[in-house]
Amino acid sequence: MPIVFDQVSYSYDEKREKTRKRGIVARLRSGKRSGDQGEEPREQPAWGSTAQQEWALRNVSFTLGDGEFLGLCGHTGSGKSTLIQHMNGLLTPTEGRVIANGADLSDKKAAQRCRADIGVVFQYPEHQLFAETVLADVSFGPRNLGLSEEEATERSFEALRAVELDADAVADKSPFELSGGQQRRVALAGVIAMRPSVLVLDEPAAGLDPQARDEMLNLVARLHREGMAILMASHNMDDLARLSDRILVLNQGSVFMLGTPDEVFSRGDELRSIGLDAPFAQNVAEALRTRGVALDRELYDIEGLAAALAKRYRARCHGQAAEPQAQMRAADEGRSDGATHA
Ligand SMILES: Nc1ncnc2c1ncn2[C@@H]1O[C@H](COP(=O)(O)OP(=O)(O)OP(=O)(O)O)[C@@H](O)[C@H]1O
Ligand SMILES: [Mg+2]
Repeated sequence: MPIVFDQVSYSYDEKREKTRKRGIVARLRSGKRSGDQGEEPREQPAWGSTAQQEWALRNVSFTLGDGEFLGLCGHTGSGKSTLIQHMNGLLTPTEGRVIANGADLSDKKAAQRCRADIGVVFQYPEHQLFAETVLADVSFGPRNLGLSEEEATERSFEALRAVELDADAVADKSPFELSGGQQRRVALAGVIAMRPSVLVLDEPAAGLDPQARDEMLNLVARLHREGMAILMASHNMDDLARLSDRILVLNQGSVFMLGTPDEVFSRGDELRSIGLDAPFAQNVAEALRTRGVALDRELYDIEGLAAALAKRYRARCHGQAAEPQAQMRAADEGRSDGATHA
């Protein structure tokens, strides 16, 4: 299902203000005044004065298309996790709308309906594992959907296989006996067991060792190839360049860039101006270009750059080998010309 962000702005201040007002109403109802029982009167929040408003998101518009892989990046505090929580209505916009499958997710019922279809995997999801066995954890969501024990178990085994765990071997184990990478895959299985068509991942590879990182990202790439739409937040530009159809760059809560990896990473200077960077191979290509190596302005990964440099090197070797031969030929021709003229 496509998910549309239409001029979405979000302020945590307003949320705090609502909570504060609810507190005041509750206190008035109970007959207590602020300051009773040693409670300090609270400072007036900044909300209400435009200049002081702090927007975690500001006028964010984009569409996550069916089956699309949208990468999300931005400096720390730029709003990635806040945006992610809007994807299935956990947070609702202060201004603007999020529309999923035609429904406005500010409507609680619409948000609840969409939650099976839009799976959100938060940062460090393994911290939320809670059940005694892997199977109990993964089948929690399907059982909540009202599925029978048998169906929930079947889906859970399918999800464990989908995240490339040996389902028979791990199902009855405690999740806490597993490695960090495996625990994270169990958490992902819990979301996949809902059979979502959209998967939203907040830094899925953060904190994993290199092998578990690769396994996790290969897994996400495979889920995408099999048809899931993916929105993935990451600080790693190489991963985003390799996996994304398009990349959304956030800066201080606003859309700074939205385009294909090619379009985004050809603007390395602008990315650096907001504390981000282009992928490693792209930076090397750019440095070589400024030193006179004629490389096309395309998006390189390490293999692509190595292949382009090897091609240039071969062409140069051929050129050098061809040059003396050409000179000799010219000299021969000169001699023969000379001989003729002589
Ligand atoms: N629960 C909260 N209450 C108040 N402000 C918050 C809350 N969560 C985030 N913020 C603020 O909202 C802004 C966006 O934060 P967010 O966590 O969405 O950024 P991020 O891009 O995910 O950062 P990171 O890369 O560090 O994960 C920041 O200014 C942050 O301090
Ligand atoms: Mg975050």
